[in-house]
Amino acid sequence: MLSFLLLSVMGLHWAASDSPPGREGIALPKVIETLFQVTHLGPWEENLKFSSVSCEELNKTTETTLFLVNRSLKSFPHCLPRALQSLDLSSNWLKELRDQDLRDLPNLRVLILRNNLIQELHWGGTPVLENLETLDLSYNKLSSMPTCQTMMLQNLTWLSLAGNPILEIQPWTFSCFPSLHFLNLSATLLGKNDREGIKESAFAQRILSQSGEKMYTMEVLDLSRTFLPEIQLGWIKDLPNLRSLYLKKMARLKSLDGQIFKATSNLRVLDCQDSQALSSVNTQIFEDTPHLQSLLLQK
Ligand SMILES: *[C@@H]1O[C@H](CO)[C@@H](O)[C@H](O)[C@H]1NC(C)=O
Ligand SMILES: *[C@@H]1O[C@H](CO)[C@@H](O)[C@H](O)[C@H]1NC(C)=O
Ligand SMILES: *[C@@H]1O[C@H](CO)[C@@H](O)[C@H](O)[C@H]1NC(C)=O
Ligand SMILES: *[C@@H]1O[C@H](CO)[C@@H](O)[C@H](O)[C@H]1NC(C)=O
Repeated sequence: MLSFLLLSVMGLHWAASDSPPGREGIALPKVIETLFQVTHLGPWEENLKFSSVSCEELNKTTETTLFLVNRSLKSFPHCLPRALQSLDLSSNWLKELRDQDLRDLPNLRVLILRNNLIQELHWGGTPVLENLETLDLSYNKLSSMPTCQTMMLQNLTWLSLAGNPILEIQPWTFSCFPSLHFLNLSATLLGKNDREGIKESAFAQRILSQSGEKMYTMEVLDLSRTFLPEIQLGWIKDLPNLRSLYLKKMARLKSLDGQIFKATSNLRVLDCQDSQALSSVNTQIFEDTPHLQSLLLQK
């Protein structure tokens, strides 16, 4: 028998550390702020594997939040309750994510897959996760993002790919996320091996709003701990609403110069802490950022 669920309110560690600071950041969706830790007593306590819980039993639960962290799961759990809105599968051994795993979860808003072994996202024909707002794929083994032909997450606002071995971001990569506000690419391999890192138009959008304008939603971008040698107008020009740019611990960033902020006049926060190679900042770049409130250059 699936015995009962212990709900204990707790602030999740990752939620705290990934929250963009201050009111300029994007607040995490309510559903995360109040994420409950759901611990199954009984079978879990005896260290039984997830697969020993029958489909029928699992399907009967009416939980909207499931917390299945560090359960040695090698594949995506089956028969999850259809009402599920938030699923945390951090620290398991998942190697892939397939659209058939997600097909029966139409209400999912938050999917946390931090610290797994995911190398590929097999998202093909069928539309899945149309209501997904938050996707945490940090610390997996992804070396690239799938092309936008195979997936579209209309409502995604928060995406973390931090800590994945991504060397390059191709043009239009994020055009399948027309609502994206927060993107974390920190601790990826962008710029390593003298690769270009972020290609021109990587953040460009194809979707037009109802009034026929392009949608520029991105407000927070974290490129900390990447190997990019410079900020290029070719990609930053597509982020006119950018408010917070994190460039911390960038080993190869030597200078900030030129017209880099020409297109991002809404910038509020520029955080370059601990980027120790950064030896030249041309103050003229700040003529383009009249709203800058926080400039961090220590170390
Ligand atoms: C991006 O992800 C890293 C690793 O999880 C985290 O330390 C950092 O705070 C995140 N950035 C932001 C702006 O939340
Ligand atoms: C995961 O679970 C194992 C035992 O089940 C434990 O030793 C380990 O510390 C846990 N890891 C984390 C990150 O909680
Ligand atoms: C789960 O339950 C719903 C109805 O409550 C049913 O329609 C669905 O087929 C069940 N799924 C499985 C895998 O048993
Ligand atoms: C996306 O969000 C909007 C507004 O919150 C909602 O009306 C809509 O049903 C959601 N889903 C899709 C697929 O657009």
